[in-house]
Amino acid sequence: MKLPKLGVLISGSGSNLQVIIDQCASVELPAEVVVVISSRNDAYGLKRANRHGIRAFDLSRNLFSSKSNYNLTILRILQECKVDLVIMAGYMRLLGAEVLDAYVNRIMNLHPAMLPSFPGAHGIRDALEYGAKWTGVTVHFADADYDTGPIILQEPVEILSDDTEDTLAERIHEVEHRLLPQAIKLYCEGKLRVVGRRVIIKD
Ligand code: GRF
Repeated sequence: MKLPKLGVLISGSGSNLQVIIDQCASVELPAEVVVVISSRNDAYGLKRANRHGIRAFDLSRNLFSSKSNYNLTILRILQECKVDLVIMAGYMRLLGAEVLDAYVNRIMNLHPAMLPSFPGAHGIRDALEYGAKWTGVTVHFADADYDTGPIILQEPVEILSDDTEDTLAERIHEVEHRLLPQAIKLYCEGKLRVVGRRVIIKD
């Protein structure tokens, strides 16, 4: 059987990348990570990719003369690696139309809050500082804006009265490490259908 090929975009530690790599290796996830692209040269996730013999690219934005060049380079790499599904796992940049148009409803983003609450780069801190009692994790298809695309899966996480950003982040990451592979698996099994803003999950 031909496994769907995943391209994973990161900017940091890559703990979600690691879970995806491990689940693909253990056949829990019927897919294969073929390429990792980082927006930062110091992202630890690049080391994880190297350790597993996965092609990895440092595409720091400042290496490119324009946004368009940056996005066209990402697109070329994804296409050369024959990527079927793109996963933004802690990737802290927006993708341009060059990539979005080529991968409509084939780019997933992970966000550490219950969208549409607390979008942006500091979802965990923002929920805590706001005084929310619950936050959570969202996996959604990416579109041209930050954290606005059709929602695939969500799971709530309670905010405890003695939580710090670190303790809350730890519980959020535990949920992320379950929810993101689950969403990828649903995609790989052909169980996701997008109707307008709604993602219908087949039984
Ligand atoms: C995750 O919390 C994700 O939701 C956010 O960035 C973090 C990435 O973590 N966008 P890691 O790099 O996978 O460890």
